[in-house]
Amino acid sequence: MPGLAYLNGRFLALEDATVSIEDRGFQFGDGVYEVIRVYRGAPFRLHDHFLRFERSARAIALPCPLSAAEWETAIRDGIARSQCGEGKVYVQLTRGAAPREHLFPSATRPTLVMTFREMAGPDASQRRGVGAVTLPDLRWARCSIKSLNLLPNLLARQAANEAGAFEAILVRDGVVTEGAASNVCLVNDGGLVTPSLNDQLLAGVTRAVVLDLAGQLGIAVDERAVREEELPRADEIFLIGTTIEVLPVVRLNGAPVGAGTPGAVTRAIAEAFRRCVLSETGRA
Ligand code: PDD
Repeated sequence: MPGLAYLNGRFLALEDATVSIEDRGFQFGDGVYEVIRVYRGAPFRLHDHFLRFERSARAIALPCPLSAAEWETAIRDGIARSQCGEGKVYVQLTRGAAPREHLFPSATRPTLVMTFREMAGPDASQRRGVGAVTLPDLRWARCSIKSLNLLPNLLARQAANEAGAFEAILVRDGVVTEGAASNVCLVNDGGLVTPSLNDQLLAGVTRAVVLDLAGQLGIAVDERAVREEELPRADEIFLIGTTIEVLPVVRLNGAPVGAGTPGAVTRAIAEAFRRCVLSETGRA
């Protein structure tokens, strides 16, 4: 399937979708985004993504140009037109095109773009566990906003990759915040421990699903500040996110996590997540 794009209300081929070089998203990263997973044609937790999108936009004083119903209709329409089966939708809203000045332009139409692309979930090897490294969290103080400014995340992911790892687990002042593109969860004595929500991390849609599922499975959840030194002592660690779902971390900074294989609690959560996707989308 060739990718499909949406640009300010119109669907068009990906290669035909272009925006001005004066778009503030391009020049300043002045915008917000969402990534939504599609399971055989059905978007997962679409409304939750809308709520966070609107919250992010409001936090940077950027009115969302579409209502929840319009936003969700556009996404479902794009999925149908693109015949996207297993895929992902990228949605980006910027403050629009204007001559480059730091102050907000007074009368500029925001730019709303979407892309619809095929993607497979984590491969079999990743599901058996990935490596992570800890790195300093060099991002700004409002990481709860899903802003376009991802440079520190990109640098951290790249550094992790060059160290032979999949993800960078970010640490600020000795406290774990999240992964460069994921939330982080530890397992100790059969219960989950995960950083509590604050301005330093993203309120992950997948994180919320996982914590609900843990409750349903009778697994205790402790949301609190997690210190860096707790990581190497954890029984299990896993990463959570839209595109990676639930991924066991089996090596941290080159050392095995627990037994060095996916732990029982992580496996139970990953399995519950697959069942949840199946029940909500009719497929998995
Ligand atoms: N990112 N934290 C960060 C910094 C992220 O970038 C992401 C996901 C998450 C997980 O959030 P969610 O469960 O809502 O996807 C946490 C997306 C997938 C991305 O940037 O591609």
